Amino acid sequence: ITMTDGYLWFEGIPFSVLGFSSEVLKEACAQFVIKDEDTVLVTYPKSGTNWMIEILCLIHSNGDTKWIRSVPTWERSPWIETDMGYKHLNEREGPRIISSHLPFHLFPKSLFTSKAKVIYIMRNPKDVLVSGYYHQIMTKVCKQPESLEQYFQWFIQGNVLYGSWFEHIRGWMSMRDRENVLLLSYEELQKDPRSTIERICQFLGKKLTPEELDSVLKNSSFQVMKLNKMSNFEMLPETFINKPFLITRKGICGDWKNHLTVAQAEAFDKVYQEKMLGFPKGLFPWE
Ligand code: A3P
Repeated sequence: ITMTDGYLWFEGIPFSVLGFSSEVLKEACAQFVIKDEDTVLVTYPKSGTNWMIEILCLIHSNGDTKWIRSVPTWERSPWIETDMGYKHLNEREGPRIISSHLPFHLFPKSLFTSKAKVIYIMRNPKDVLVSGYYHQIMTKVCKQPESLEQYFQWFIQGNVLYGSWFEHIRGWMSMRDRENVLLLSYEELQKDPRSTIERICQFLGKKLTPEELDSVLKNSSFQVMKLNKMSNFEMLPETFINKPFLITRKGICGDWKNHLTVAQAEAFDKVYQEKMLGFPKGLFPWE
């Protein structure tokens, strides 16, 4: 465990120095106990985590908005690997909604013997890259890239928070055929939120009335979430931010086209093809 480059390195993965510590990371990865009744949301950062938390919380409350309007996202569905999240989760009784960005090989092993339901959200890595760049320059979570080009290089090399996107997806994809795992994409949520939310309900064994489903749909929409200060990161402590920052930045598919140059997109595709060899055709909606 070392601290260089403005990152907290743990097991070869760069974490933020703000809100993380090597003690908690070590303990969380080695000892955290996932229970059968938990719902676990796993994502690579910037893939739609907060959107899915909103959906899961609304489903949990049968479309009632009291919870999402009174408690911040990170308390409703804490991240196992953060100092605060780890503490919250250990104190919580009953079924929990748990978030994590941990790569597969660091995830607490108790998951593999539990019946907990796991949802993995993936997103077009070029959009993940652009979204991550903006997150990074607006917040103080770790070292600042000088330009998008520099962040682009870091991303391709896996020198960004939580490490390589390519390794994250490859690790977690090995779980995709398990019956307690639901693989979803940001893209399908955008394309057809209603039927994707219905699939989530079915997976969780939750029956909602049409009115309740309407409420989940409406209150997890980008427009409504952007106005909810419990969900849009307006509540982020000032020590974490450089410039006014909302997690609800743009909320579309394909924003990379407005940011990456043709040369960058081509370079990305080349790396992508090498690193993604062996996955079946049709698995990733952005291809
Ligand atoms: P952009 O930066 O491309 O806009 P995460 O929660 O994993 O950090 O992901 C953040 C991304 O999800 C941001 O992408 C954000 O705008 C998008 N997002 C958040 N809430 C959303 C919603 N309700 N609908 C669509 N996209 C949403």
